[in-house]
Amino acid sequence: MDTHAASNGPDAAVSVAVVFGASGGIGRALVEQLLSDGRYSRVITVARSSQPALHNDAVPAHADLTDETSIRAVAHQAAQLGTVRLVIVATGLLHDTSTTPEKSWQSLDGEAMARSFAINSIGPALVAKHFLPLLPRSGRSVFAALSARVGSIGDNRLGGWYSYRASKAALNMLLRTLSIELARRAPEALCVGLHPGTVDTALSQPFASRNQTGRLFTPEESSTHLLQVIERLQPGDSGRVFAWDGSVIPE
Ligand SMILES: NC(=O)c1ccc[n+]([C@@H]2O[C@H](COP(=O)([O-])OP(=O)(O)OC[C@H]3O[C@@H](n4cnc5c(N)ncnc54)[C@H](OP(=O)(O)O)[C@@H]3O)[C@@H](O)[C@H]2O)c1
Repeated sequence: MDTHAASNGPDAAVSVAVVFGASGGIGRALVEQLLSDGRYSRVITVARSSQPALHNDAVPAHADLTDETSIRAVAHQAAQLGTVRLVIVATGLLHDTSTTPEKSWQSLDGEAMARSFAINSIGPALVAKHFLPLLPRSGRSVFAALSARVGSIGDNRLGGWYSYRASKAALNMLLRTLSIELARRAPEALCVGLHPGTVDTALSQPFASRNQTGRLFTPEESSTHLLQVIERLQPGDSGRVFAWDGSVIPE
């Protein structure tokens, strides 16, 4: 398939799925499942640094969400391979060496907030900027970004986690706005946010307890749920945020 694409340009019959955050807990599980179910001819696995060796049908690519040039280059690579029918942005930031979820307004720090917005809101928007134009004008296709239930304004009863909550709320608004523009160009294409549940990954590890009230999913369980939600999306669902069980998250 690669040879054909290289010699004659992109082959429209080749369906391409793209996963950003392929090195992450949920992203990696999504990639493995997409590769094993064979629904897409090729799966582009995008990570900002190293990523584990995968199946032969995986096409590794590199992009940092804070570097638009690198996102544009992956979009170009995808367009050469075939028709992009699925894009999942499974990147995200809750904590790192210089960012911790804030318990109080006293902890608010401009730089840490800007980092959260750069990765959780602006990065996925830039992926959309370069990938939504690649979705086919007719036929079903999906752009999905991993959001979080805590990004829901209506569902916020506990407070805290200011930057993460606000950056995911901004992501949800960006997805809704993108979905409106997308519908004019590609009426059957869908643009949604997804809440994966609480999942046992590096992101949740300091905060998720196995004794918590809700379930702690493995990345494999979560990715199975998320791909089912994507599969079951209906035409009117674009612009909404869905939880792992298919329920709509309040705005
Ligand atoms: N785990 C949960 O319980 C949970 C709950 C609700 C929502 N979510 C959401 O689900 C998504 C995936 O989370 P996860 O649990 O799989 O987290 P994770 O294991 O920490 O994975 C995060 C991914 O984001 C990538 N990333 C971070 N900054 C990046 C950048 N500047 N450019 C490119 N990639 C970048 C990481 O790449 P590196 O490997 O290079 O760092 C990694 O692949 C996130 O959006 C998160 O907010 C997770």
